[in-house]
Order: sequence, then structure tokens, then C-alpha cells
Amino acid sequence: MTGVPLPGQGDRAQAVRAMFDRIAPTYDLLNRVMTLRVDQLWRRRAVRTLRLAPGEKLLDVCAGTMDVSAEARSQYPEALVVGSDFSLPMLSRGAQKTGLPASAADALHLPFRSGAVDAVTVAFGVRNLDSHEVGLAEMARVMKPGARLAVLEFFRPESTGTRAFHGVYNRLALPVMGRLLSADADAYRYLVESMERFASLPEFVDSTRRAGFRGVKGELLFPGVCGLVTGVRA
Ligand SMILES: C[S@@+](CC[C@H](N)C(=O)[O-])C[C@H]1O[C@@H](n2cnc3c(N)ncnc32)[C@H](O)[C@@H]1O
Repeated sequence: MTGVPLPGQGDRAQAVRAMFDRIAPTYDLLNRVMTLRVDQLWRRRAVRTLRLAPGEKLLDVCAGTMDVSAEARSQYPEALVVGSDFSLPMLSRGAQKTGLPASAADALHLPFRSGAVDAVTVAFGVRNLDSHEVGLAEMARVMKPGARLAVLEFFRPESTGTRAFHGVYNRLALPVMGRLLSADADAYRYLVESMERFASLPEFVDSTRRAGFRGVKGELLFPGVCGLVTGVRA
């Protein structure tokens, strides 16, 4: 077990933020090593679904070091891209790396007016919220009707085979990499255990529909592990 409470274990925002503050310096490197850079392909795929027109506004929620924001800027140079996150060490790295605007904000209380944005992305963020249902409702609030949502996440694997593979990879490979590359192996244990406690892809698709999105689709990008959920604000 980790020191950071897991999904469903109550109010954990402070512990989650402190954890991301600690791992910010090694976050990008670990992501690339743990996924062999496939994480960037997942972000590219998610951003491609948004089809942003020139001048449209994209809010990257739980932006962390702003890799999704950077991808959006590269695919849509004329869109207005803003990253937001509640961990300043993560976000300031992102703002420095991308040169894009960034807003320090809790995803459950976004400091934007209702109907302000044309698209929202969240990559590997919803699993960390105290309530992903409240997070989805808050994103829906700041989106215009017709605005596009793309959520990337490590959902709870469902089939016995993928659960077994997942268990072995997560329990053997990830902690070793975490220990080698980061001073905070505990944080990487959290990333694994929170995945196993989070919603499955079909459960999250249902939550997204209930939060006011239509045309919601869920697709696995990596068998049983990484999923992409897209939808349109009704
Ligand atoms: C796993 S990182 C993902 C970062 C980035 N989106 C990416 O693709 O690499 C999760 C991020 O969510 C942020 N986060 C978690 N809970 C949050 C909340 N309630 N409000 C804002 N940011 C939050 C963390 O600070 C962290 O930067």
C-alpha cells in the first residue's frame, strides 16, 4: 500500500498534489521510459480527435508538464491552448517547456466562466480526482454546447488475462523503474494501485454520458490498459 489514498478512499487532493509536486522533476523521463514513448502517440491520437479550428480555445485540465498542450499547439498552431493543474512544480515545468499559458487551478473548481471553451483534454488526470463525476461535471460546465472532450486514462483492466499481465508488469517492472529513475518509488506504486481501483472504461463512458456529453465513445489504445474516451458537450 502507498501513503497516498486511492480512488474511493475519500478526500485525497492534498496528498495527491504533494506527490506530484515531489515527482515533477522526473515525471517526463519516467513516462517515456515506462511506456517506451508510446505515451506520446496516445496523446497525439487524443488531440487529433478534437479537430480545433483557428481561434478555438482548448483547456488542458490536469495538464501536469503540458505534453498534451504541446501536442495541441503542434497540431493546431492557430488554436488558443491553456494548461491548468493544481501542482505548481508540474505546471511551471510545462509552461517553461511549451511557452503556453498556464493556470494554477483545481479541476473540481475551474476558474473559468461557464461555456468558455471549445474543447477540453484530460490525460491521466481523472483517476487522481476525489470524484471523477464531479470533475466531468465541472468540465462540462466550462464547455460550450458542441465542445469536444478527449480523456486519456489508465482504466481498471477488466479481463482476467489483462489483469494478470497488468499485475505482473506493475508489480515487477514498474517499481524497479520507479526506484531507478525517481527518488519516490512510493509515488509510482500509487500510480499502479490507483489504476486498479479506478473505473473501468465502460464505467467511465457511462459517467461521461451522465455528466452531459453525447456521442460518447470509449476505445482501448493499449489492450486492457490505456483508454481514450471522447464525447461532445450536449
Ligand atoms: C499523471 S499527471 C498527468 C499530466 C499530464 N496530463 C500528462 O499527460 O502527462 C496527473 C496530473 O493531474 C494533476 N491533478 C490531480 N488532481 C488534480 C486536481 N484536483 N486539480 C488539478 N490538477 C490535478 C496532478 O497535479 C498531475 O499534474
